[in-house]
Amino acid sequence: MRKILALLMSVFMLVFAAGCGGGDQAASSGSGSGSGGKGGKEITMGFSQIGAESEWRTANTESVKQAAKDAGINLQFSDAQQKQENQIKAIRSFISQGVDIIAFVPIVETGWDTVLKEAKDAKIPVIVVDRDVKLSDDSLYVAKLGTDSLAEGKKVFDWIDEYMKKQNKKPRDGGSQFNVVVLEGTVGSSVAIRRQEGFKNAMAASPDASKYNILASQTGEFTRQKGQEVMESFLKSYGDKIDILFAHNDDMALGAIQAIEAAGLKPGKDITIISIDGVKGIFQAMIEGKANCTVECNPLQGPLLMETAKKVLNGEKVEKLVYVDEGVFPADVAEKTLPERKY
Ligand code: AHR
Repeated sequence: MRKILALLMSVFMLVFAAGCGGGDQAASSGSGSGSGGKGGKEITMGFSQIGAESEWRTANTESVKQAAKDAGINLQFSDAQQKQENQIKAIRSFISQGVDIIAFVPIVETGWDTVLKEAKDAKIPVIVVDRDVKLSDDSLYVAKLGTDSLAEGKKVFDWIDEYMKKQNKKPRDGGSQFNVVVLEGTVGSSVAIRRQEGFKNAMAASPDASKYNILASQTGEFTRQKGQEVMESFLKSYGDKIDILFAHNDDMALGAIQAIEAAGLKPGKDITIISIDGVKGIFQAMIEGKANCTVECNPLQGPLLMETAKKVLNGEKVEKLVYVDEGVFPADVAEKTLPERKY
């Protein structure tokens, strides 16, 4: 009898030990630097990304996915394929799943009030990432993390103005003004609206305002292909008149470079090219002398997002608006800077 009891005891101990081991493993694989929210319970975040339109966006997605892993946050990732309706559907599905927190990149500025009200009613906090939203009630989100598009547009004009003077550039058509063409981002997106606004405001406020003329401005939808197509049509319409290209992102500038070369012109020389983002592709183009400057827009927002989510769920106070740091990189620093670039 004693032998049977001892045997049963050791079987019980083995099963118990195995159970504890499995539990520890699950906790460590799920928690990374610690799940941290709601009394240590693993956090589930629903994240609605807009798609994969650019090199920048791919880096942004990777940053969010990696940061979630590192923070031990269970990420429910949804790709909206460039459609607001898909984002609204995704947010509704996160609400019905009962996720702990929702984060999303708003493809356009408006049209979010109803779905964010539904999230608020379900007591699910929302963090807005990268782009801005226009709402009738700002309490519908807890924080906005991203980039300052107005400042980016201003940096673009300021750089151009200084560069044209330093290089002693003259308008190609022999006239008195530099002709600028603009490739805009997604219509209705806060980034496209504000980059354009920042650029135009800086131009209007400059003592050199009369030296510049915006010849044409059209959307290239933040993609390389559309950037190339629209630049082709600009070149057909305005030929030798174009002095400067401002592309709202690097991908469109890279597409435009192909169009400029196909038209027999020298990108970066005949046409001064400045764009926004700071992806490796544009650094390479600058090294080859085909682009002149990029204004950084930092996509590596994942770690800040996860940190903010944990704070929100722990009931800590967070800043309502946080902008990440961004620099300006002209062609003469491209070679030295490229090896350090993370995206
Ligand atoms: O919202 C950020 C912008 O969206 C980036 O400039 C662009 O490359 C992206 O697609």
